[in-house]
Formats: sequence, structure tokens, C-alpha cells
Amino acid sequence: MARDFSTVGVVGLGTMGAGIVEVFARNGIDVVAVEISEPALERGRVTLTGSTDRAVAKGKLAAADRDALHERVHFAVGLDALHSVDLVIEAVPEHLDLKQRIFAELDRVCRPETILATNTSSLSVTEISVATSRPNQVIGIHFFNPAPVMKLVEVVRTVVTSPEVVADVEALCARLGKVDVTINDRAGFIANALLFGYLNHAVGMFESHYATREDIDAAMKLGCGLPMGPLALMDLIGLDTAYEILDTMYRRGGRDRRHAPVPLLKQMVTAGLLGRKSGRGFYTYERPGSPKVVPDETTPLATDTALADGARAITKVGVVGSGTMATGIIEVFAKAGYEVVSVTRGVEKSATVCEAVKTSLNKGVVRGKLAEDDRDAALGRITWSATLDHLADVDLVVEAVIEELSVKKALFASLDEICKPGVVLATTTSSLPVIDVAMATQRPADVVGLHFFNPAPVMPLVEVVRTIRTSPETTATARAVCAALGKTGVVCGDRSGFIVNALLFPYLNDAVKMLEASYSTADDIDHAMKLGCGYPMGPFELLDVVGLDVSLAIQRELYLELREPGFAPAPLLEHLVTAGYLGRKTRRGFRDHSHR
Ligand SMILES: NC(=O)c1ccc[n+]([C@@H]2O[C@H](COP(=O)([O-])OP(=O)(O)OC[C@H]3O[C@@H](n4cnc5c(N)ncnc54)[C@H](O)[C@@H]3O)[C@@H](O)[C@H]2O)c1
Repeated sequence: MARDFSTVGVVGLGTMGAGIVEVFARNGIDVVAVEISEPALERGRVTLTGSTDRAVAKGKLAAADRDALHERVHFAVGLDALHSVDLVIEAVPEHLDLKQRIFAELDRVCRPETILATNTSSLSVTEISVATSRPNQVIGIHFFNPAPVMKLVEVVRTVVTSPEVVADVEALCARLGKVDVTINDRAGFIANALLFGYLNHAVGMFESHYATREDIDAAMKLGCGLPMGPLALMDLIGLDTAYEILDTMYRRGGRDRRHAPVPLLKQMVTAGLLGRKSGRGFYTYERPGSPKVVPDETTPLATDTALADGARAITKVGVVGSGTMATGIIEVFAKAGYEVVSVTRGVEKSATVCEAVKTSLNKGVVRGKLAEDDRDAALGRITWSATLDHLADVDLVVEAVIEELSVKKALFASLDEICKPGVVLATTTSSLPVIDVAMATQRPADVVGLHFFNPAPVMPLVEVVRTIRTSPETTATARAVCAALGKTGVVCGDRSGFIVNALLFPYLNDAVKMLEASYSTADDIDHAMKLGCGYPMGPFELLDVVGLDVSLAIQRELYLELREPGFAPAPLLEHLVTAGYLGRKTRRGFRDHSHR
């Protein structure tokens, strides 16, 4: 029979500990909540009260239940208060020596049968366990931030954790309404091993002024549907905690340079910029502990002032190409009121594109999202052409032809001859260097990347890629156009993968490597990212949707340009592509889709 946990102890009431106390008390379990000092205890109490009051205000918790919850929590300074609990969860700062000291002390204070658990994110549970005389009763119970909200718990067993203890803790997780994945003791477990390389990379982008904090965060939220951007997430985790996790993962996880904390992180921690908990990190918050971001000296002005930055007026737009992206982009511009000249390589192709745009607009009408008049007006604004000469008087050209550098360069050289002075020339390339295309013209200052996402009419993000030759006016124009299209334009440098793909694909590749190493299953890895980090899809679900061949090609480009050893494509990904398992489109990728 599963062990009865009627009283548990929580040590450390910071970002995680206070939330863990709430999880237990909400589920009818008595909690002894311990801190190192009276002021720290008071902070923990305030966090718990704040969180439960917010839950009541949102109607998620009845006032009477909140009061009962608080009655179940007994606050105390010092570990001695834990003498009769059934389980202790430690959530003190991420330092091995501190955790070992606490476990040695817990071993002395607690009853012999008490289970001792750590909430560590990256330290070795095994090393922590050997500070006690009962390593078989030591286990990792890794909650996610915020603990009351996130459904996942990683249960970490060491080589000596007793199977009964694992089973008891798994049953406890179920009682708490959590989904657990049980794994072995490896740096970063599942979720953090996949998350922290990405977070560190994003900090590196910010540090090198590759893009602003707002643009990096918007790119990942809008481009991948993540609940928050990486820099906002760093602020939530706490920069001191994130630094320690990265540092430990670097040392324990094979000295992967991608885990070596970006120097800016250390500087921010030293300067006391710890994120939400100190009121300032990458963003500035209303007050310490508040989730509300307030403007500071680097907050950008509203986009509608972009015109004041020298953006050119755009009324007529040329779109070159006849594929999925071109079709979507024509629709987007026409719906937003621009006059559009569509240029394809032949009358037949034009007819096909025209049909595709009509079909898509009609769908909008059927779904009640577009009025018939607006559909007709949008179609009336489009001219269909099979010759580039019709682009002589447009203000902006968006190129969306095949992803081949020679073709794009030849096209830009022609545009250079045909288009009027002052036109903005944009490429939608997702993987080629924009500067190569720009240098095929005599006016590289007017060339910019406009990386739309598929399907263009739906996806709210556009990456505006400026090369070292792009003029500020061209960038401002591109950004103003995005705003006029109702999209968020994020500005970034001209590097492989821009923001989204450069941050997304190495993470997907890492997930494949984790599967290949048999650390966990595709299902558990997908669960971990969805339930622990709030991702809309797990990495294997996403790889099967995107296509394994496409993913491999992007990963190869990143590896070749950045020469980062950690970006080397996972052999398993290469093998699946060679075997023709490309994902949903071939009915088989990481999963078999033939029966769905
Ligand atoms: N922050 C996250 O998003 C996150 C997520 C999952 C796991 N974790 C892990 O949880 C643990 C705690 O991280 P955090 O972010 O909550 O840290 P934190 O700095 O917010 O809180 C740590 C708390 O421990 C207290 N403390 C320090 N020494 C103590 C002692 N000797 N006795 C009792 N209390 C003591 C501190 O006063 C502080 O309140 C770490 O192991 C971390 O890796 C963090």
C-alpha cells in the first residue's frame, strides 16, 4: 500500500519553495514551511498569501478554501521543526555544498523513515544523497515554475533510490494532480537540459545587440506560440538561479559551450538584477516580486512613431513568386489595403495563384472573418502579371521565389534595373544571407529581409532582417509596413536562422539527441516540454509537423555558419531523413501517422 503523506516539510520559501508549499496545502496536506531567518520566513508568507489571494480574486479558489489552506501551513525558522514530517522537499539556492549541509542536518533531525527530496534543477541528486545515512530514501522531485500552475513534476531516481520510495512519490504526485515523468539522475533532467541552452543563446543574442529584448521575446512567443519569451522567462526563473543551473550543467553535462553562462548574466547577478524577485532583470517590474513590467529607459516607443524615423510611404507593392508564401503574402497585403502587383513566371502560374488567393479569401468569408465586400475590394486591388516590367512604379517588392541563391540574385539584379529609385527590395528567404542578395543590386541600402511565417495570413510575426548595408530608413519602412499589416515586425541581424529558427532548431535537435541516448521516451520528452514549460507542442510532435528534412536542412545551415559543435545535427535525425521518414507528410517520422 502506498505510503501516507499527511505532513510534509518544505525548506526554503523562495521562488519555488513558496509555490510548493501552496501545492501541498491546496491538496489537504499539512506543511511545515522552513526558512533560514525571520525576515526570509516573512517573505515566504507574503508570497504564499499573495498567490492564494490572486487565486481567490480570479475565482479559482474559494475564500474558505484559502483560509483552510493557510491553516494547514505551519511556519518555522530552522530545520528542527521538521522532526516528525513524512517527507521533506528542499528548495534552497542551487549550491551543492549548501544542499549537502542541509541534507546531513535533515538526516539527523528527521525520523528514519522520512523521505528526503530535493527540488534541484541541475545538481546531482546522487551527490546530495550521499551526505545522508539514507541515500536509498533520497529522491529528486523537480517542480516547475510557477509550481501551483505547471502540471509537470520530474521524479529523479538515483542508482540507489529504493523502488518503493519512487512508487510512493509517484503516487503522491498523482494525488497532487501532477503528471510525473520518472527519470535517472542527469544534469538538467529532461526539461532544463532542453531549455537552458536555448535560454542562454537568447541572452547571447541580447548581449551582442543582435536584437532587442522585446523583439527576441516577441519572436519566440509569436513565432512558436510559447507562453513567454526567453528573457521574460529568465526573469521569472531568477537570474541567480539560472546562472547556477547553467554553470552546473556546463560542468556536469560534458562542458557544452552552449551552457557556459553568457558573461552578461554574471554581471547582472553581481549587480543585483535578479529578475522579478528583485524588481529588475532583463525588464523592470513594478516592485520586487511583481509580475507587472513597467517601462524603463530601453522600452521602445510605440510602432506608430516609426514613420517619424524616416520610414518611406508605401502604397503599391510587388510580390514575386507563385508558391505558398507568395500566395499568402499577396493576400496579406491586399487585405491590408495595399495595391498589389503579383508577378509570376507565366500566365498559367498567375491563374493558379489567383485561384489560390480567391479560395483563401472565400474561406475567410465562409468562416465569417471577412465581409464579401472586403473580399471583393481586396481582389480588386491585385493586378496579375507575368513580367517584372510591371514593377517599375511599385514602392516595395517582396520576393518569395525558390530558396536558391543564384535565382534570387538574378532576380534582384533585374529588379535593380527595373524598379524606381527609393523602392524597398525585400526577400523572404529563411536561410540565405540577405547581404548576398543585396549585393546583386547597386542599392544594397534599400534591401532588407522580410521573413514571413507560414501560413502568412495567420502567423502574426515577421522577422525584419537588416544587413550591414541596410539603411535605417529601409528598416523603419519595413517595420512600419509590418505594423500596417497587423503583424509584429521584429528586427534582427543577418545571421543564419535569424531569431526564431536559430533558437528553435537547436532545441529540437537536442531533443533528438536525448532520445537517441535513450535517456527518455519521445512521449515523456513531449510531455515534459508541454506540461513543464507550457509549449503548445512537444519537440517530436513539432518535428513531425515541420518535416524532418526541413529541420535537418536548417540545423545543418546553423551548424555550418556558426561552427558550434553542439549544433551538429543528431545522427538519428539524419538516419530518419535518409530512411524517408520525414514526418506527417510521409505518414511516418518520429511517430507513425498512418492510422491517424
Ligand atoms: N526558479 C525556478 O524557476 C526553479 C524551477 C525549478 C527548480 N528550481 C530549483 O529550486 C531550488 C530553489 O530555487 P529558487 O529559484 O526557489 O531560489 P530562491 O533564491 O528564490 O529561494 C531560495 C530560498 O532558500 C532560502 N534559504 C537559503 N538557505 C537556507 C537554509 N539554510 N535553510 C532554509 N532556507 C534557506 C532563501 O532564504 C530563499 O528564500 C533550486 O535548487 C533551483 O534550482 C528553481
